[in-house]
Amino acid sequence: MKPKILVTGAKGQLAKAIKNIVATYTKDYEFYFVSKANLDITKAQDVKAFLTKHRFEYCINCAAYTNVAEAEKNPKKAFKINSEAVMYLADSCKASNTILIHISTDYVFSGETNIPYIETDLPNPINVYGKSKLAGEAYITKNLSSYFIIRTSWLYYQNTNNFMTTMLSLSQKETPLTVVDNQIGSPTYAEDLAKVILKIITLKTNKFGIYHYSNSGQTSWYDFAKTIFNIIKTNPSLSPKKFYNIPSVLNRPLFSVLNTSKIEQTFLFKIPNWKTSLKVALSKMYKF
Ligand SMILES: NC(=O)c1ccc[n+]([C@@H]2O[C@H](COP(=O)([O-])OP(=O)(O)OC[C@H]3O[C@@H](n4cnc5c(N)ncnc54)[C@H](OP(=O)(O)O)[C@@H]3O)[C@@H](O)[C@H]2O)c1
Repeated sequence: MKPKILVTGAKGQLAKAIKNIVATYTKDYEFYFVSKANLDITKAQDVKAFLTKHRFEYCINCAAYTNVAEAEKNPKKAFKINSEAVMYLADSCKASNTILIHISTDYVFSGETNIPYIETDLPNPINVYGKSKLAGEAYITKNLSSYFIIRTSWLYYQNTNNFMTTMLSLSQKETPLTVVDNQIGSPTYAEDLAKVILKIITLKTNKFGIYHYSNSGQTSWYDFAKTIFNIIKTNPSLSPKKFYNIPSVLNRPLFSVLNTSKIEQTFLFKIPNWKTSLKVALSKMYKF
């Protein structure tokens, strides 16, 4: 029997990216892609029953509450999905000897620096989303030994909802676009992250722990948008604006670049530059 791999949050962009490249791995592994309708990770009994029944070798948790602005208005829901449900998954993984690969975020950091964050830097989230994700991480690191937590940033994928596709659709509307130029991070193409996750699995490694993964290089949202339009050779009206944290409404880290040396050196990965991967993503949508 082939080892089984569970992928939660199957309708999200990372899970879709994994699903789209999984064909080359299916001779060695059996994949179970489950959406919220099939496995709601906030339902403790369902999680326990599902993991007990299948005895997965790995659980890749792509399910999350990812709407950063909405999380401020709905902290209970954000914590339920990003923290409480992660506890259920972690407990069930422990009980069934399943290795948990959990995805976390650059937003666990406050952004008050201009030096890329390493895994041992002290997290200090400044919004509900970041706090809820950090609580999920904390439970895993405290209670599991066989886990990978991969923090990533500015994730995007073709034909799903994200910054890249939002810019593409707004640019069709002929209204002037203004985009923040004082928030700095690293875009991450979900397919690159998907490949890294599957590579870690096939390496059968026990180098467990927290890792940072994003595409290499850094940029602002404004420059990200400009680069998208340059690649597809379109020229909408685009101008920069400033983002100001308003503590009572929403805070976002102004600098959330992740230092990826640990994952590169541990697993000998070569990480593509964000512009190279952006071209790949856009070429899949625009067939160039
Ligand atoms: N997107 C980013 O820019 C970004 C940046 C850094 C880190 N990350 C992390 O990367 C991971 C993947 O993100 P993504 O962008 O692929 O997320 P996504 O596209 O928002 O997908 C998340 C999926 O989780 C599902 N989900 C929500 N609640 C659930 C529940 N109770 N049970 C089962 N599934 C549930 C959602 O379903 P519904 O839509 O039906 O609710 C959605 O399909 C997440 O852990 C996220 O925190 C993302």
